Amino acid sequence: MRILWKPFGFSRRLLQGAWCHPSESVSLSALTRRTLVPRLRKTPSIFWLGQRQGFSAMPEIEASVKDTELFSPPSKVRGMTELDRTAFKKTVSIPVLKVRKEVVNRLMRALKRVALQRPGIKRVIEDPDDGDTRLIMLDPFKMLTVDSFEKTELGVLEELAVNPQLSEYNLELTYENFKSEEILRAVLPEGQDVTSGFSRVGHIAHLNLRDHQLPFKHLIGQVMIDKNPGITSAVNKTSNIDNTYRNFQMEVLSGEENMLTKVRENNYTYEFDFSKVYWNPRLSTEHGRITELLNPGDVLFDVFAGVGPFAIPAARKNCTVFANDLNPESHKWLLHNCKLNKVDQKVKVFNMDGKDFLQGPVREELMLRLGPSAEAKPSVHFVMNLPAKAIEFLSVFKSLLDGQPCSSERLPTVHCYCFSKDANPAKDVCQQAGAVLGISLEESSSVHLVRNVAPNKEMLCITFQIPAATLYGNRALSLENFEEPSLKRQRTDDSFSEPQITSNS
Ligand SMILES: C[S@@+](CC[C@H](N)C(=O)[O-])C[C@H]1O[C@@H](n2cnc3c(N)ncnc32)[C@H](O)[C@@H]1O
Repeated sequence: MRILWKPFGFSRRLLQGAWCHPSESVSLSALTRRTLVPRLRKTPSIFWLGQRQGFSAMPEIEASVKDTELFSPPSKVRGMTELDRTAFKKTVSIPVLKVRKEVVNRLMRALKRVALQRPGIKRVIEDPDDGDTRLIMLDPFKMLTVDSFEKTELGVLEELAVNPQLSEYNLELTYENFKSEEILRAVLPEGQDVTSGFSRVGHIAHLNLRDHQLPFKHLIGQVMIDKNPGITSAVNKTSNIDNTYRNFQMEVLSGEENMLTKVRENNYTYEFDFSKVYWNPRLSTEHGRITELLNPGDVLFDVFAGVGPFAIPAARKNCTVFANDLNPESHKWLLHNCKLNKVDQKVKVFNMDGKDFLQGPVREELMLRLGPSAEAKPSVHFVMNLPAKAIEFLSVFKSLLDGQPCSSERLPTVHCYCFSKDANPAKDVCQQAGAVLGISLEESSSVHLVRNVAPNKEMLCITFQIPAATLYGNRALSLENFEEPSLKRQRTDDSFSEPQITSNS
């Protein structure tokens, strides 16, 4: 399952090394020369760093450096509800290695493991005392003592005639140098869960804040914007998706109010107003999976099409697509996106209730395409992605068509989405769908686990061919006459009683 939870981003702003007197400083250690001296004696061309303006000789750093507070923002930011970036300033002591400038590049390759990695911090800075040397910033958690260098690293130091003696450097950290999680952990009440994850929808970070985070909502939104390049607006979901059009009620926490956005999914572009239509970046794998199942020339009826993430890729695959959505805004953006992706000639777009769509244009089309005179014999697929309700719409397939039934291999395939909270969700959805259609689907369907939407709540897709006896109104037709041969085989196999389940993850 692919989830677009964006990891914390880094600000590109670089902090210049500052020779400062700390207001809040975390010292790494008291220094001793115990382990270094013997090593230095073996090293040619060494030079000692004495006490200098910003760094001091630091042959060994105490093991107590493993202090998780070192890179935490100052304690005074706890409880802050309005973001004050200046309050995040703090000075920490970190180990540095003084080297000749001409060996920096070679050395950096060899010292990758121990080089300091902080957002916006240069790993190599100028030496204020010597234009010909540079200071390499090292990770204090990895460089406790000179002995922390690995053999190969020491080998390179020796080869380049670099003194492995460490010095201490006072590094000033600012808001730019903390990760979003570190900032939120420092601000929110201690021990409480901090959120730094969100769904990204174009320029919008879509958060789902918990109650204890709400007093900090504007600050959290601003931190997400600051720390994630390309995000210029942060919104919070203020209700579950329980309205007809499946769009969220949302509050803009920080940044621009503009909800008109543009996203890329599986190489297609979609534009829409996120406040008025449904879009879920966590469905991209599922959209791709269904597209993969289709062949050029197939017919796709997308009953709850949204802004087009099934319809447009299918049309690009040279399928004939009929796409419908009840929400006038979705319909508008669906039309727009068909043009944007240059498939407007291949998609017929409707703005109807799903039931009317099935009983009207779909029925008409099926009568033509499945009738005996139809020349081309494409496969027909239905996508029904309205998980809370789609199963109810299956009843429309009962006796939808009349006349002579088509051959079994041309019967439409339905991909119907649903939720289940059952301990056996696959069996549950088979029973739900079967109950609506008045048939058993347990041996003639496959169930795909799309995603876990909440603890103990799964979103699934059940796929099956609509039996002729269900689709055609001629009551004289018995199930046996129109069953697919493969299904007949399955029915005689007593060992098969569970639906097959696959998953995106
Ligand atoms: C869960 S969204 C799925 C959208 C799209 N297929 C996707 O995968 O992103 C369900 C869509 O069904 C539409 N819808 C809700 N009730 C409907 C109905 N009775 N008839 C047709 N469309 C409906 C909503 O407006 C929404 O766009």
